[in-house]
Amino acid sequence: MPERDHLTPISDRFHLYRAPERTRTASFADDVRIGLTAARKVLPPKYFYDELGSALFEAICVLPEYYLTRVEMQILERDAAEMIAALDGPIELVEFGSGSARKTRTLIAAALEAQARLDYHPIDISPAALVDSTASLVAEYDRLHVSAYASDYFDVLDSELLRTSQRVLALFLGSNIGNYAPTQARELLRAMSAAFKPGDALLLGADLKKDAAELELAYNDPTGVTASFNKNVLARINRDLGGHFDLDAFAHVSRYDAARGSVDSYLVAQRGCSVRIDAIDTTVRFAAAETIHTESSHKFDASDISALGTESGFRVARIWTDDAKRYAVSLLVIA
Ligand code: AVI
Repeated sequence: MPERDHLTPISDRFHLYRAPERTRTASFADDVRIGLTAARKVLPPKYFYDELGSALFEAICVLPEYYLTRVEMQILERDAAEMIAALDGPIELVEFGSGSARKTRTLIAAALEAQARLDYHPIDISPAALVDSTASLVAEYDRLHVSAYASDYFDVLDSELLRTSQRVLALFLGSNIGNYAPTQARELLRAMSAAFKPGDALLLGADLKKDAAELELAYNDPTGVTASFNKNVLARINRDLGGHFDLDAFAHVSRYDAARGSVDSYLVAQRGCSVRIDAIDTTVRFAAAETIHTESSHKFDASDISALGTESGFRVARIWTDDAKRYAVSLLVIA
């Protein structure tokens, strides 16, 4: 169980908690062994985000086809002040999956217009992204105080680590909720509503259901950045676990399943092959055209958001969208 003593001061306004390296490496090896020896092969999407994977994701965010980041940013730039004013202040921000925190700046700036000091608690699995983004935020805003957590969300939510005293506005942006299966999404939002107080709120960014062609293009750009991002999970197995994947033997495929409202991404073996992974002492066999499911990116409509919120201890107070209704930022308040 993580403890508060493990928060290390980096400066007087920046403290960092880092989950032990040993735990993270062990779970990668276990998840690879379990996922690649299953009847339907699968790798959890959280393993995309090593240093290279995080950089590839940043590149995806500026692709013209991947509209999600750009449209969410437009909504935040337009409505951040209204979002902050929707709660009785002063507030503290807790952010799940802060990454580069570029979009968070709109809310930090709006909150600092309304109050003298702001406490910000970013939580992200990638320590590199967290340290870089926090250092520049602290330099930019002299009334900002940061306690950052390089850890799994549930580990932080289930611990005594996260201590807040004021009204909390939690942020879960970037349509990251879409990468959870519906049951896990409810489980995560329930853990959030249990960790905070009545009246605290969650600002949830979610990509909206739309035409299959537009969605599939967003996840299979002609430049091939998304394909490299997907294949990086195999490259990471090669680097970190002594894997022997030939990346050219796998193709990136993404398809929208309208019935489940999900863009599903796969790596598809182009021929039969056997791949040795030294660290888990396993040889994985692939038939030609066999798939590894690497990610699902769920899409929502207003009723999906409302159902997810009410089943997890929230009520929807407000939904902001862009004019073309491609993307939504919703304010869910703890009932
Ligand atoms: C981080 N997440 C919300 C992205 C998504 O849209 O599912 C990850 C991504 N995968 C391919 N492109 C972007």
